[in-house]
Amino acid sequence: MTPPRHIAIIMDGNGRWAQARHLPRLAGHRAGAEALDRAMHLCRDAGVEFLTVYAFSTENWRRSKAEVSGLMALLSTYIANKADELVANSVRFRVIGRRGDLSARLQREIAALEERTRDGAFTLVVALSYGGRDEIVRAAGRLVQARMSSGDSAAVTEEEFGALLDTAGIPDPDLIVRSSGELRLSNFLLWQAAYAEFFFTQTLWPDFGKEDFDAALAAFAKRERRMGGRIKR
Ligand code: FPP
Repeated sequence: MTPPRHIAIIMDGNGRWAQARHLPRLAGHRAGAEALDRAMHLCRDAGVEFLTVYAFSTENWRRSKAEVSGLMALLSTYIANKADELVANSVRFRVIGRRGDLSARLQREIAALEERTRDGAFTLVVALSYGGRDEIVRAAGRLVQARMSSGDSAAVTEEEFGALLDTAGIPDPDLIVRSSGELRLSNFLLWQAAYAEFFFTQTLWPDFGKEDFDAALAAFAKRERRMGGRIKR
């Protein structure tokens, strides 16, 4: 069975997981970070090359101050604690989204880890202050800038536009997974999801493990991917 080359995950349900245990929401996010580690190992063992995770959306800034700063601190701690492990495991770390919205310190930590892991064989993409529409609008702005300075008026191609997105150089996801029973894309990878297969599970993200992962791969293996082409008979 050929595994998906790129899996993208909407890690949903941390808050409900914590609530069910009478724990603060941040405890759910902490458990979510452990589930991310598990998912990354499962991906690498299965031969997946790219894993993209939705860690913080452009809409998540509307959450309470305590939750936002807790999540930012968690990211900072994750980077500090995991850097050596990522290097040792040949993981390339990359962030997509409005990184300028993050604190100057977190931006520095991200840039340093991206630089340190740039040659990794497996890519972990973390979407931070990310929104699909925002990414497309920023790419359109870059296109206008480039075209204005070059004076080029040739038709814009999908390749040219795709190379201006935050995900430049990263293949589109083959499989998008969402946990916790919600059946939405929630502004995640709008452009890149064009031909993705979807897998939804009721499992809350902190509980996501091998069973769900294997179920997602098994469902993916059964899909006939036509990419807009004809049904094969
Ligand atoms: C959605 O669950 C989850 C988030 C908004 C944050 C996801 C972040 C992590 C898993 C933290 C770890 C990430 C890294 C890169 C270290 P929710 O809070 O919306 O859950 P709910 O719908 O049950 O309230």
